Formats: sequence, C-alpha cells, structure tokens
Amino acid sequence: MSQPFRSADIRKAFIDFFISKQHTPVASSSLIPHNDPTLLFTNAGMNQFKETFLGMETRDYTRAVTSQKCVRAGGKHNDLDNVGYTARHHTFFEMLGNFSFGDYFKEAGIAYIWEFLTADEWLALDQDRLYVTIYETDDEAFDIWHKKIGLPAERIIRIGDNKGAPYASDNFWTMGDTGPCGPCTEVFYDHGPEVEGGLPGTPEEDGDRYIEIWNCVFMQFNRQKDGSMTPLPAPSVDTGMGLERLSAIMQGVHSNYEIDLFVHLMDAAAQILEVENQQQASLKVIADHIRAVAFLIADGVMPSNEGRGYVLRRIIRRAVRHGNKLGAESDFFYKMVAPLATEMGDAYPELKNKQSMIENAIQKEEAQFAKTLAQGLRLLSSELEDLQEGDILSGAAAFKLYDTYGFPLDLTADITRERGIAINEEEFDEHMQAQRERARDAGKFDVDYSSVIQVDNPTEFIGYQQLEENNVSLIALYQDGQTADSLAEGDEGVIVLDRTPFYAEGGGQVGELGEIRTASGVFEVQNTKKSGQAIIHYGVVSMGTISTNQTAEAQVLSSIRAASAKNHSATHLLHAALREVLGDSVSQKGSLVSSDVLRFDFAYDKPVTPAQIIRIERLVNEQIQANTPARIENMSIDEAMDKGAVALFGEKYGDEVRVLTMGTEDIVDGKRHPFSIELCGGLHVERTGDIGLFKITSEASIAAGIRRVEAVTGMGAIKYIQQNDAQLSTLAGQLKVKRPEVATRVQVMSDNQRKLEKELERLQQKIASAQATNLLDEVQTIAGTPVLISTLSGIDGKSIRPLMDDVKSKLPDSVIVLIGDKDDQLALAASVAKSVTSRIKAGDIIRHLASELGGKGGGKPDYAQGGAPKADNTKTVIDALPNWLAAQLS
Ligand code: ALA
Repeated sequence: MSQPFRSADIRKAFIDFFISKQHTPVASSSLIPHNDPTLLFTNAGMNQFKETFLGMETRDYTRAVTSQKCVRAGGKHNDLDNVGYTARHHTFFEMLGNFSFGDYFKEAGIAYIWEFLTADEWLALDQDRLYVTIYETDDEAFDIWHKKIGLPAERIIRIGDNKGAPYASDNFWTMGDTGPCGPCTEVFYDHGPEVEGGLPGTPEEDGDRYIEIWNCVFMQFNRQKDGSMTPLPAPSVDTGMGLERLSAIMQGVHSNYEIDLFVHLMDAAAQILEVENQQQASLKVIADHIRAVAFLIADGVMPSNEGRGYVLRRIIRRAVRHGNKLGAESDFFYKMVAPLATEMGDAYPELKNKQSMIENAIQKEEAQFAKTLAQGLRLLSSELEDLQEGDILSGAAAFKLYDTYGFPLDLTADITRERGIAINEEEFDEHMQAQRERARDAGKFDVDYSSVIQVDNPTEFIGYQQLEENNVSLIALYQDGQTADSLAEGDEGVIVLDRTPFYAEGGGQVGELGEIRTASGVFEVQNTKKSGQAIIHYGVVSMGTISTNQTAEAQVLSSIRAASAKNHSATHLLHAALREVLGDSVSQKGSLVSSDVLRFDFAYDKPVTPAQIIRIERLVNEQIQANTPARIENMSIDEAMDKGAVALFGEKYGDEVRVLTMGTEDIVDGKRHPFSIELCGGLHVERTGDIGLFKITSEASIAAGIRRVEAVTGMGAIKYIQQNDAQLSTLAGQLKVKRPEVATRVQVMSDNQRKLEKELERLQQKIASAQATNLLDEVQTIAGTPVLISTLSGIDGKSIRPLMDDVKSKLPDSVIVLIGDKDDQLALAASVAKSVTSRIKAGDIIRHLASELGGKGGGKPDYAQGGAPKADNTKTVIDALPNWLAAQLS
C-alpha cells in the first residue's frame, strides 16, 4: 500500500487481502438485526452469519469477508458513555472481519492476521509493537503464536475468566446472553510510552497506550440461556478489527479522532458551530454521534421513546447538548449529514440516497428537544448548585429531567460527570419501574387469559377470505378446564376445530362471535382466542348437544365482523394520521379493536390539542373518502421494512409477514409512500370507503407519557354524532335559542353570573360596613376598657376580617369580639388594642371561645381568628363573655 493510508484505502486493502485468500466479499448488513430479537443493534460482523455458525443456515461459501456497520450504544456491548473521553470508543464504527464457517480454524486464522498486519505488501506494521492475548487455557493458540509465528512468549498474555464467572473473560467472546461464542485471541498495538496505559491484564489496561485492534474468535459453542454451552456443528472463525483504530495506527496518530475521517467531520462541526477545532471533547462527541445517528436513520430507526428509537433519541440529544455547550443556539446537528455523506457516501450510498430524509428526521428531533433543553439545563444547574464534587444527584431529580424535560439518564450523567457528581441510579430506576408498571396496567387488555386451557393441536385459520365453512371437524371439547366428550344444552365450554373462519383475539382485535352447528346442536360462540397453536371458541350450547368428532358448520356473525374490520382499518389510518400530525416518534403502546369502538394508546408526552384532533379526524376521513383499496400482501420482513412498513418494536415477526397498505400515495425521496403501511394479521375492509366515517370520541392520558385516543366508525360514528346532535337540540330548547347560538348564550349567561356574584359581594360588604357603624352603640366598658361584643348574621370567616378592620378604625384602645354566623358556622374574631394586650391577648379570647364552643382558632396578641360549629350553647357562651373578660381585665 502506498501512503497516505486513508480509511478508504485500508478498508479496500482488507477486503482485497481476504479475497486473495478465497474469501467471498459480503455486503454489510443493516444496523437493525434481521430476525434476531436478542440483539438491539448489529454490533459485530458475525451477526449476519449467526445462523450459519449455528448450522441452521448454509451458504454457498465457507469463507467470507466484510466491512460491517456496527453500533455499540445499548445492550450487551455499549460504549456510549465513553465516547468523547477516550481515544478509541465510538457509538458507530466499521468492523472489518473475515469468517470461516467450518473451514479453516486456529492456525490459518492466526496466520492470516499476522500476514495482513506485518507483511511488507500489506500493512507492514512494526512487529515489535504487537502483543497478543489468548484465553488462559488455550495452549493451542499459544503454540501457534509462539512456535509457528515466532512471537516471543513474553508478548503472549493469557487472560482468564476476569469477569467473575466461568467463561466471563475478555478472551472469551460472546455475542449476547445467548448465541455463538468461543475463546478468542486479540492483537494489541503499542502506541508508545508517551501515551498513558498498561498492557492487558494490568490495572492500567484501560489507558490508550495498548489498543486492541483485532479480535479473532474461535467459534466453538452455542451459549444457552441458562449459561450452558453446546458445541457448534463445526469449529469456525469470526474476526473483527476496528477500521478507525487501524487508520489511527496507519496514519501515525494516537487517537481515532485524529484520523482523516474524524478530522474532516470535526472540522465540519467546528465550522457549523463557528468555533475553532481544538479537539474539544464536544466536537468529538458530535463527530462520533452523527455517524451512529445518520446510519441508524438510514436503516429505518426513528427517534422515539422506546427500544431502538430511544437509543437513537439519546444519541441525538447527547450530541445536541454538546453543541449547546459549544454555543449552538439553534438546530445544527442535522447540518452534519452533508459532510458525513461526503466522507462515507461512496462506501455507503444510503447516506447520499437518503440524505434529506435523515436531515429532516434529525432536525425535527433537535427542534423538539430544543423546547425543553434550556429549561432542563436550568433545573439541573439549580439542583447542582448545592452539590459538591463527589456528591450524588437524587434519582428523583434525574427522573424529573427524564420525564418532563426529555433528558435521557446518560445525558444527565454526561453533564453531572463534568462536575464529578454521580447520580442515584437506583432511585432513578425505582421511578422508572413505577412508571413502567403504570404503563403495563394500561396495556392489560392485551393479556391472553387462554393459557389455562392447554390445547396442542394447531388450528388452520381460514377466515381472511370467508365468514363460514361447512364440514369442519370438531376435534376437542372442554368444560370447566377439562376435556369433555360432549356438551349439553345450556353448558358453557370451549370448542377446538381443525380449521376455522373465526378470528382469534390478537393484534389488538377482539375475538369473533358466531355459531358452530352440528347435526345435533348449536354452539353460540361468544369469544375466540388462541391457546398455543390452537384457536379456541368460547361459548354456550344454545340448542341440543354437540360431541367431539362431529362435523360442523362454523359461521361468523357478519355484522360484527364488518364493524370490527372498519374499526381495525381505521386504527391503521389513525396511527398514520397521528404520526403525520404529531410526528414520527408517536409509537404504538397498545390497541383494542372491537365492533363498537377502537382504542389506540401511544407514547406522547403532552395532550393532543383540539386543533390537532380536528386535523387527525380530517386526515383519516380524507383517506376514507379517497376510497382506495386496502391491499394485503405477504412478503419477506426485509421487503416490508424496505417499503417503510411500520412494525411494533419488540414484536417477533416470522420471515414472512402480512402487510396492509392503505390510502393515497405520496412520493417521498423518490419512492412511492402510501398513507399507511403496517404489518398486521387482522381483519380489514376491502376499500377505505367501507369505513364510512371516523370520529374521535376521547383523548386522554392513561399513564405518564402515554395517551389514549378512542374513536368510532361507520354506523357507530353516525350514532355518536346523532346523540351529540340531539343533546345540542335539547340545550338549545332549554336556552330558548337557535342551535348555533348555544355557545354565545352560555357565554353571556356565565358572564352575567360572574357580574351578579361580584355585585352580591359588593352589597354584602356595604351591609357589613353599615352594621359596623351601628355596632358602635353596643360598646360597653369593662374594667375601664371599651369592649364591643357582637354577633352578626350572614358573616363568614372570609368577610369578618375586613369588617373587624373597619370597626377597629372607629374604636381605638378597645377590645372587640365579633362572631359571624352563617350557614350554622360561627366565625370568631378578636382584636385587642396594643395598649391593652398586656392585660389580655386576642389569642386568649379566641382560644377561650373556641374551647367553650367546640371549635378551634388562635393568632397574635392583637388579632386572632377562629371558627366553631353553631350549637345549643352558643348564646350562653357569648352572653357569659363579658364576665369572663371582666375577670381577665381587672
Ligand atoms: N465478533 C468479534 C468481536 O466483535 C470478532 O469482537
């Protein structure tokens, strides 16, 4: 290779080298692992070959070479927190790998590595800078390195189970908790004594001096969930080398962030942010994160509140915060897509093809986060004000930042770490758990109760095209959870048929109703569910008897099916409309489709406004009126994803999926995009027009961050509108106005009422003031002090104070006791002039009255207030007050 070693040259050299060793070049797979629910993101070159290693899939080659897009920002291999703070960690990186599927093993695997790294015609690395590690007990690998390759024994380091469990070792690689695994040997490069860090196995190993560049796994086992290992069909090889690390070595720099690609990206970021590139950690974070973000979006992930979408959101928000730190005032991160496409678009054309889509998605997320970022940062800095280095931020504060301001925990941690403050993650987790439980309760209607009845026979579902079928066989009957031979009239039970047109509860749609008839009886189906692979019909025998092994006619109630289908199709249109109006991050949390109503729960953190509801209804009804066909197609999951079909994250789909497409088409990025395209196994209308009409009936929160929309369609919607309409007519009649004038009339009435209330209050005060003047006649002298004691009807606790102020101003140097009497409640107030408080205090008077009257109260020496219920002794107590006062004052 000739200098300079650009990243692109190294990538090409690697592939060429292994092609020269009879390896088949295979394209990078998507960052979203296909068909593998155990994996969040593609995190290693071997992922796409998992089933080949396990012997479940054969390929027409036994050697392969790839440059694989990888993301390690969640799940088992997670480097997010380190990014920006070490020279070598990334959220996204390219893994160069060569693979043998039962072909060569340890010896050739090691020999290829050595040749590519050290041979003059390839990388020609200085051999003296290379060290290797092997699994502690792998003598075979030791011998190959030492005897065949000639590496001195002191540069071969054995690493045992250094992670606290058998096979938990830096040199025993596992893909995840389950899957192919085996001992490995790793090659390390010494960046020289001027860089801090120690050899693998030493306490300083996390430094940046000795960098692992290549990991070669000798795949031998399949790890099971319980931790046990079963041997693979054939020993294999899986290797992975970080392109960025290799580039750093080849370009003579210590940090990945100094290689060509990152220098260009960081320069671009500095330019966008109008700062100087001084290798600030924040610039590194931005340059790193744009790669993960752009590639994830290109592969179909969108920012959201869960799963992959949430990891993406976290990465974007972390980048935005670092931009903010460097002074960014408005959206900037999306502007990084263009320079990235220039750098990497040749090797990964999706970056160029989807550039504007990626930019839009990022900008939208930035704009959304910008709304709460400043507020959140303010809250956080006020929380941090009282904390010192070494202190801990409460989990409640971190949760509030998460829940209200959209700060992912690692974003908060990123900020607190800058000040040496940790977070009480345990407490944060408790808050999260409580929230999850609330959300789970919200999703309870999805729970399958049918597991009490165990049926192993698979039932064929034939209901997509038909409502009824003759000649089905009644293969099992159950009563009270036990098998039965026959059911008599009136008996409740469960029927299993060999095939059935009845749709079983699933995908949010409720089970169907109808009848199953045999020659001897009729069974009324009241619900249909799944139990294992069987479809089970719940119901009651309404006539005669039915027995196992009879043939039967099964008939679904057509009106109910038609109404459910309308609601189900409308749910998809609603989902699409919600995404259009509220943003793509709206993600489904649950749904319920019955013949009466449809219900859709989704993650969204604020109420949907009335104007948004109107837009959503309008969008759905426009699609209904467009009357396009509802197309159902079976296709591979890849094809479905490629078409942009919406799938539920966390849901397991088979290889072939059923895809429902509805609505008018838009052209997005040169591709036709239908209004709604979703994976779905449910029952639907033939054309959108069949839905008839769509009307939202309610929108509410059902848990933190989860909203529920309920709606009706078809005749249900007409009925709903008619009922509302009738109510409006009744109101108009009662108000004696025309219907369009109802709102104005109600407004006028409530304005009037407010006016009247104010007027009433004014008059009451006037009366009280008049009373106060009259009161002066009632003043008596007790022990030389003027004393006024008066009971006033119609005065409550609220109006007694102004009245007292009024009286007091007219009666200086006195003791005043007012007792308001309204609605059987006594309001007590006492005022004692300052010149008298040495002899008696207002609080004492009120406490005395309250205790005599069975009430409570208290206050300061010159003024006190209280209350008591009106009772039989009220008059006696008040009449006795002058005597009591006389005793106190003298
Ligand atoms: N699968 C191995 C790794 O990711 C090569 O390190």
